[in-house]
Amino acid sequence: MKRPAPAQIGKKESIADTARVLSRMFDGIEYRGYGQAIVEELAKYASVPVWNGLTNEFHPTQILADFLTIKEHFGRLNGVKLVYLGDARYNMGDSLMVGCAKMGMHFVAAAPEKYFPDPALIAKCQAIAAETGAVLEFETDPVKAVQGAHVLYTDVWVSMGEPTEVWAERIRDLSPYQVNTALMQAAGEQAVFLHCLPAFHDLKTGIGKEMGEKFGRTEMEVTDAVFESAQSLVFDEAENRMHTIKAVMAATL
Ligand code: NVA
Repeated sequence: MKRPAPAQIGKKESIADTARVLSRMFDGIEYRGYGQAIVEELAKYASVPVWNGLTNEFHPTQILADFLTIKEHFGRLNGVKLVYLGDARYNMGDSLMVGCAKMGMHFVAAAPEKYFPDPALIAKCQAIAAETGAVLEFETDPVKAVQGAHVLYTDVWVSMGEPTEVWAERIRDLSPYQVNTALMQAAGEQAVFLHCLPAFHDLKTGIGKEMGEKFGRTEMEVTDAVFESAQSLVFDEAENRMHTIKAVMAATL
């Protein structure tokens, strides 16, 4: 079967022109792609709301679902300790840091130093935290990081748009940050597990199977035991994507 050609955005048609064409046809535009600069340029030229459905740098609508899930479980956001383990300089780590700063939470990025968020973004978030009372920490020791945490959060080690060649390096660098039963126990029994999904917790996906077999692993960023445990709220979180995106539309249309 012939696959449909990808959109011409930024290739045969400028982003500015695409923004104006789509604005004549739709009530809103959601961009899910790669560069943050693209969604910002769309927003600049569009005359309808533009939503960031995921870029390399940020994933703001996911954070709304995550925080609704946390609030449903703990009854509050303020003061909740969320530890993000893994590639903390990419969309999920960045947006969770921004969201935690805004909501007065305790954010910890647990990763090797080279995977810490961009210093300029950290500085912006520290300024927000100074207003809200949020605490932001950056820790290389995963066991130390999770002490007393309410939420352990992780994401895939290789994101959309990244080359498969980086898998070996990521597995080597990020394996100590895998969310497993020992780490959940180190956090304490109050801790819950969240993941934006999709997750490599078994070999039931094409990439999971291919990379798992290549590197002799059955799990990557989270073990199947944690993913399937009572502490895992990942499907509440997935459901909350629907409720929160409806709220975003209601607020902006
Ligand atoms: N970091 C992941 C998030 C998926 C929702 C990616 O960009 O692929």
